[in-house]
Amino acid sequence: MLSRKDYIQDSLDANLFFQRIMKEHLFFIEVNLKPVDETYIAEANILKKSFEDLLGETVIFANHAVREELLKSNELVTKFTLNAEKITSRLTGASINTNITEAEYALKAKPNFEYTDWLEMKVHAINCRSLNLLEEVIEFKKKLLELFLDCEIFMGIYPEMLDHLIHEADLYREILKALVNRTLPKKPICDELRFWNHIMEDHAEFIDGMLDPSEKDLKEKAEAFAKEFEKLVEESIKCHEKQLIEKSKAATEEIRDFKKAATEGLLDCEIKSIIPPLLADHVLREANHYLRILKEMKI
Ligand SMILES: [Fe+2]
Ligand SMILES: [Fe+2]
Repeated sequence: MLSRKDYIQDSLDANLFFQRIMKEHLFFIEVNLKPVDETYIAEANILKKSFEDLLGETVIFANHAVREELLKSNELVTKFTLNAEKITSRLTGASINTNITEAEYALKAKPNFEYTDWLEMKVHAINCRSLNLLEEVIEFKKKLLELFLDCEIFMGIYPEMLDHLIHEADLYREILKALVNRTLPKKPICDELRFWNHIMEDHAEFIDGMLDPSEKDLKEKAEAFAKEFEKLVEESIKCHEKQLIEKSKAATEEIRDFKKAATEGLLDCEIKSIIPPLLADHVLREANHYLRILKEMKI
């Protein structure tokens, strides 16, 4: 059973990262559906705004209570996030609440913070509401994937990407379900590594597939990353924990740098692609998140 302080901090860790990830998934769905599917566009927009509202609240409660390591990891926001949001919102016409991003830039950790009963209650309520909303979001994503695979709807993202968004939501659900019972999921280290290495492999494949065919160098690099992470996924089956953590860390640092350069290039309009800048920043944050997990892994 988690202590009050750990419960609050672990909940903030999970919600600050995943609530943003979820609202961005819904944004990507919203802008990649076609005008004919206006009801689903409206549904994506409502779910996005609901996660935005939750994130806005979490950020208020997180100030001073949040862990310094989380703020330093650049998994919540990067220096590119606000700009990427403004550009992507302008290019797509879909809304993004940038006030939340500004508030996240201002978040501070306070070493002697007092973790009160009151804050525990507030955080617990947010966990429960996030879990309810998440169930709805997972159903929505699954329904769209099914319709997409049956050629009943058409989207500007790959079915495989929708599937990837479902996997990330499933992980968040697993964490929230454990948290509301005052524990953390008990996942073997190698399963955790396999999950995230697979996510990194998918990212490399999506980037490769969404770059303009003329961007040969970048496409080659993306393809090489996909192969490297595919190998790491295979290695997690006959798992040597220490070795695999080191290898995964090295590969993730490299793909993090690649994603960072890609985000900058996209923001400066120097790369030809169908990748919105916010998607590049999104996968960069997911790499930063994985790097923190790797750093904090205990064997
Ligand atoms: Fe994601
Ligand atoms: Fe992802």
